[in-house]
Amino acid sequence: MSSKALPTSLLADTAVVGDHDVTIGGVSLSELAATYGTPLFVYDEQTLRSRCGEAANIFDDGVAFASKSFLCGAMAKLASEEGLCIDVSTGGELDIVLRAGIVPSRIILHGNNKSVDELKRAIEVGVHRIVVDNFSEIERISSLTSSSSDVHCLIRVTPGVEAHTHDFIKTGNEDTKFGFSITSGDARKAIDAVAALPGVTLHGVHAHIGSQIFETAGFDETMQILATFTKDDDFDELCIGGGIGVAYVEGESAPSITQWGSAIREAAKRIGLSPKIRILAEPGRAIVAQAGLTLYRVGAVKPVVQRTYMAVDGGMSDNPRPVLYGSGYEAFDVSNPKAQRTQSVRLVGKHCESGDILIDEAWLPATTGVESLIATPVTGAYSYSMASNYNRVPRPAVVFVKDGKAREVLRRETFEDLARLEV
Ligand SMILES: Cc1ncc(COP(=O)(O)O)c(C=O)c1O
Repeated sequence: MSSKALPTSLLADTAVVGDHDVTIGGVSLSELAATYGTPLFVYDEQTLRSRCGEAANIFDDGVAFASKSFLCGAMAKLASEEGLCIDVSTGGELDIVLRAGIVPSRIILHGNNKSVDELKRAIEVGVHRIVVDNFSEIERISSLTSSSSDVHCLIRVTPGVEAHTHDFIKTGNEDTKFGFSITSGDARKAIDAVAALPGVTLHGVHAHIGSQIFETAGFDETMQILATFTKDDDFDELCIGGGIGVAYVEGESAPSITQWGSAIREAAKRIGLSPKIRILAEPGRAIVAQAGLTLYRVGAVKPVVQRTYMAVDGGMSDNPRPVLYGSGYEAFDVSNPKAQRTQSVRLVGKHCESGDILIDEAWLPATTGVESLIATPVTGAYSYSMASNYNRVPRPAVVFVKDGKAREVLRRETFEDLARLEV
């Protein structure tokens, strides 16, 4: 029988593990569940601010928070207060960020299929950068601009570095829907086309080589390729994208944002990149993942021949990552956080889908059962932002905790919210 203690290194920076409760930001998780109900997303503001601060310190001004990882007005404001621009990749993300009061000159627009309306709004409000992805988009930008425009762009390129967790391989063919291939010559053609647009300034190139990358070697390689590719251009920016990984389960470890940025800066120095070129990035996961956890209430425990199923009051609608990517998580019992976790269960949700699995093999104390409050750490990234209403399950509330206080930043959806779209 396996027996494992809770890996506390996965918890947010301010976590304090007591005998019968865990506090984050000085707030009891049991009390949060009692006040706001479950499932509930809990984010530690101090962890969020500290990760944003790391990114703002190690990269140049213009470094952004990739809002696709977790977006609400409060998060956009927090990242902005800590000195980051906000990267959005759709009109919806742009709208939320503008409603939050973020000045357009701190917003970067991404997207591999930006509509005319999305580009029009971005140009009208005056976003900081548009990261151009394809030739149709260049035509659209051309139709929306003139010599009196003041539009600023980067070109997204595919450097031929395909990064994988713990590994990276160089690919001859860049088989991706994103960006312009350097090797095919498209990236150069795109640079020439955008540079020729009246009222449009091209600042440099951008590459994003993947996500949940544990090693900095792939970024080093990308810096080398981008620097070589643009050595004769008079650019002033180079963006390395996001992608640095985080530890989700016991035994994993990832570089900090500072270590990642330092490796990129060292690569730039070694390559001899002009000091006038601002080195930028747009981390998402590394900023929000560890700051967040999800609280669930156990509703059913069902032993079958092969294993025990433990069902909670959420599931694939609040965290689709295990279903989409087979991602692993840990779980702990909030009232019994120091106990050895000797009970192996398959932690599942409440959805009408056999694949609705949150943790294939979760370890919990032997006493955990129906009505127990359990938490899954490191769910701050791509959980709420990818959440759905499958089975018409309302999305959970989100609270930020800090200095002993909780504030609800997104309320729980109601059945009225779900019915609102009916015509
Ligand atoms: C263009 C771009 N930038 C940044 C990110 C953020 O990546 P991560 O959350 O892995 O840091 C993504 C994620 O898909 C992306 O596509």
